[in-house]
Amino acid sequence: MSQEVLFDYPLQDAEGATCTAHAWAKVPEPLTPAARGEWKARAKALLAQKQAVLVAHYYVDGDIQDLALETGGIVADSLEMARFGRDHPSQTLVVAGVRFMGESAKILSPEKRVLMPDLDATCSLDLGCPPEDFARFCDAHPDRQVVVYANTSAAVKARADWMVTSSCALAIVKHLKDQGQKVLWAPDRHLGRYIQEQTGADMLMWNGACIVHDEFKGLELDLLKAEHPGAKVLVHPESPKSVVVQADVVGSTSQLLNAVLQMEAPAFIVATDNGILHRMRQLAPGKTLIEAPTAGSSATCKSCAHCPWMAMNALQGVVACLEQGTGEIHVDEPVRSQALGCIDRMLDFVKAHPSATSKLGLVRHLGAA
Ligand code: 13P
Ligand code: SF4
Repeated sequence: MSQEVLFDYPLQDAEGATCTAHAWAKVPEPLTPAARGEWKARAKALLAQKQAVLVAHYYVDGDIQDLALETGGIVADSLEMARFGRDHPSQTLVVAGVRFMGESAKILSPEKRVLMPDLDATCSLDLGCPPEDFARFCDAHPDRQVVVYANTSAAVKARADWMVTSSCALAIVKHLKDQGQKVLWAPDRHLGRYIQEQTGADMLMWNGACIVHDEFKGLELDLLKAEHPGAKVLVHPESPKSVVVQADVVGSTSQLLNAVLQMEAPAFIVATDNGILHRMRQLAPGKTLIEAPTAGSSATCKSCAHCPWMAMNALQGVVACLEQGTGEIHVDEPVRSQALGCIDRMLDFVKAHPSATSKLGLVRHLGAA
């Protein structure tokens, strides 16, 4: 069994995947309450006029999340966003999230117009896995099933056998292991390591990371837990091992939200992008929600628990894309049809195995490593 990292991709390059300066520079200034109301009303009218539906991720601005729910759209994790966009009858999808989410929607529904509030909204995992380098990695290991995380470009998906999201990755890799398959995994090294440890699968890993989750700190979390002994710890599996081993629940964004709703505990420490607190507070107003720490002696706080690319989504961008047709996603047809295979394989799997995305996280915490 191997966990060797074959492609030590240079994540620390100041211009590369971990550079957030460009993204923060494009995040719009917060609106006044009056302006928020006006932009939201404009966006609502345009969604109706253009017969468009808004598909939003939990990490985007709370006003956009509310707008999605008030207009028949959805706020969801990346798996549910993909399914909802594919199945919704509307011919125009406005995807509020990051670029791979818009691309997945377009790959699944090429006949639909897919718009995004800002096409520059990307993801450090996507940036840190260039298709040419990834193709060389795959070429060197033709004996392995290529499993890629949703947070990748269409071109990377076009090289993959399977796409997975955090809500179904564990079940799919377990299925491959049970079939005797070896796995080539990309790009998130923390999620990959977590799945490898849970399944015992033979996985070769790419060296990618989410700049937001990578910042959560195990030592500081330990101290915070001591201050809140009754609190349960909810962790997204893109977080480092020192954080994951302290979790009561590990799961996708939807699975963490469900944990808050279903677990009896009065308080939760949440180790994922703090954009999710908006929906958690709405659905569980009586519960205390505490952000997991990103500060500490080794802190860099490039994101401070909020994704700068998600933060680029603003009501003004929703209005602009609907009014002017800006931010349209295009995926070249040969790439699209190649990439469709790995997404369809995942969607067929979760349809056939509903427990693969079961509501309470990938698994409960299994104890300290
Ligand atoms: P989910 O699929 O859990 O929503 O995760 C997407 C993501 O980008 C997390 O950082
Ligand atoms: Fe990518 Fe992390 Fe942002 Fe999610 S939170 S979109 S994984 S950079």
